Amino acid sequence: MSDSVLPALLQSYLDELVPDRPAELRAMEALAAAEGFPIIGPACGQLCYLVARMVGARRIFELGSGFGYSTAWFARALKETHGDAGEVHHTVWEQDLSEQARRHLAALGLLDLVRFHVGEAVAALSAQAGGFDLIFSDIDKEDYPASLPVIERQLRPGGVLIVDNLLWGNRVLDPAADDPATAGIRRFTRLIADSPQWTGSILPIRDGLLLALKR
Ligand SMILES: C[S@@+](CC[C@H](N)C(=O)[O-])C[C@H]1O[C@@H](n2cnc3c(N)ncnc32)[C@H](O)[C@@H]1O
Repeated sequence: MSDSVLPALLQSYLDELVPDRPAELRAMEALAAAEGFPIIGPACGQLCYLVARMVGARRIFELGSGFGYSTAWFARALKETHGDAGEVHHTVWEQDLSEQARRHLAALGLLDLVRFHVGEAVAALSAQAGGFDLIFSDIDKEDYPASLPVIERQLRPGGVLIVDNLLWGNRVLDPAADDPATAGIRRFTRLIADSPQWTGSILPIRDGLLLALKR
């Protein structure tokens, strides 16, 4: 999982407070740690699950889903709120990660709730009917600004946007950091903060999670 901006002890404390979860989710966490694959981790996963449950999200679209760890948290919320009536869209451009996600989600008994798209995530979102209750983004950071108009179009009024890595290992605070990813996150953050369409807040857990409401 990618770095947390929190002191390691504090991040571990928050992760360890997350209630027990299926062995498959824990196995996915161990796999991410072993391979250095960036997942949102337990504390952010639990927050995503909580928000999805709080707003009763039935249609969820995820941009940049990796091997399905964040998808699993959203799908768990869906199942508990709506049984088999909801849908969460998994999008990733690596075929092997999509197939791996299918295996994990099947092991969790959540496969029927997930729609899989292999390809560019923003294009996949753009091709949907829209009216999503919740959109989550974890795509390449330089692409965050260009994704916003599509997200705005496809999220329903009153819908929730969650975006990962808004603090980016604290590089957003470093005036000397001007690489495309850091610049993309800074630009995206300003677009949300300055827009009358959004009310948002960055929660400084792990790598900074934006939680925003579309007015
Ligand atoms: C940070 S990982 C996702 C982790 C996942 N959200 C989780 O917490 O379990 C991002 C994944 O999305 C892929 N990706 C990045 N930008 C993408 C895009 N624009 N379209 C499709 N896949 C993308 C990356 O290659 C990678 O597999």
